[in-house]
Amino acid sequence: MSITELDKEYVAGTYARFPVELVSGKGSIVVDSKGKDYIDLGSGIGVTCFGIADDEWTAAVATQAATLQHTSNLYYTKPCTELAQLLCERTGMKKVFFSNSGAEANECAIKVARKYSAEKKGAEYSTIITLKNSFHGRTLTTLAATGQDHFHELFNPLTPGFAHVAAEDLETLTKMVKELPTAAIMIECVQGEGGVIALSHEFVTGAAKLAAEHDIPLIVDEVQTGNGRTGALYAYMNYGISPDIVSTAKGLGGGLPIGATLMSEKMEHVLGAGDHGSTYGANPVCCAGALSVIKRIDDALLAEVREKSQYIFSALEGTDGIISVTGMGLMIGIKTKKPAKEVVAACMENGVLCLTAKDKVRLLPALNIPMDVLKKAVEVIKTACAE
Ligand SMILES: Cc1ncc(COP(=O)(O)O)c(C=O)c1O
Repeated sequence: MSITELDKEYVAGTYARFPVELVSGKGSIVVDSKGKDYIDLGSGIGVTCFGIADDEWTAAVATQAATLQHTSNLYYTKPCTELAQLLCERTGMKKVFFSNSGAEANECAIKVARKYSAEKKGAEYSTIITLKNSFHGRTLTTLAATGQDHFHELFNPLTPGFAHVAAEDLETLTKMVKELPTAAIMIECVQGEGGVIALSHEFVTGAAKLAAEHDIPLIVDEVQTGNGRTGALYAYMNYGISPDIVSTAKGLGGGLPIGATLMSEKMEHVLGAGDHGSTYGANPVCCAGALSVIKRIDDALLAEVREKSQYIFSALEGTDGIISVTGMGLMIGIKTKKPAKEVVAACMENGVLCLTAKDKVRLLPALNIPMDVLKKAVEVIKTACAE
């Protein structure tokens, strides 16, 4: 049986996979089992931020794997401590909790906010207000946080204590904060799965001000937007706000599973011994990979991300078959006249891997994708979109 047939036989059918078996790659090029090359504009959904088998990342991970691959959190380890220190130094946050995924980073963020608000104001202050059209993960709590009803159907009852407000509706958010016993406001600065929609400066700064005025923790979900993706280390930095809690994952590990929840000075003492934990959290191999990733996301790389972003916007906006281009940095959504799935299939046929988000074609290329490779891929996209 082929890998495709075996997969259909034995792997839970939760993914609508493309009919391609990937076997290897280097940088922004991936190769399938038939030897065909593709330019990868998806990065495993924003994960392989320095591409496939990047030399520096591979060396960091391989060295750590051959030294000490796991200890549990009962002991101190250098990769965990150094990564936490670097994340705090680069963000001004004070404490980090490590987990294994974006959903878990959000679970931790929600626990911190609920404990803070319960201790400060009373246990009834448990409501987390998130945005409609948001995406925060697939666990029952992060599904409840996700403001898209179609993800909820068939899995009820979800964790109670979540309310949703339309993005950009500061007036209703203000009303809800006054009426509901609110434990946190939680936002993505750019709604990724929701269609790559960047929130306005006015809304994000307004929500941050509102949260501060009412002593409500502001959680920014940087699972997809974080780690250089939007041209800043974290997307909230583009808005000049200071969140109380930041969750991140995806690109942080560069290809290994790691989530991180960053806590500000106000939140740093909320979690105590026994309040939270994860067997694999802060795994030394994942932390060594993440450390090598964060060290490389410097001003020069971020400027490169912004430059490539401008190139994509200017190359695609107003071209045949393209209705609009949205997003920030190298997190891009393209609304096409043809169905997005058709465009993605045509791109794949012609050697370019893209993603979708709602009705848009979505691009999340490696942050270091070479400009000539990117230009080649953009030409393929333009041809696929043209009517
Ligand atoms: C903004 C956001 N939050 C959370 C998640 C969930 O992350 P994970 O799949 O690693 O649990 C995602 C995944 O796409 C995401 O985009």
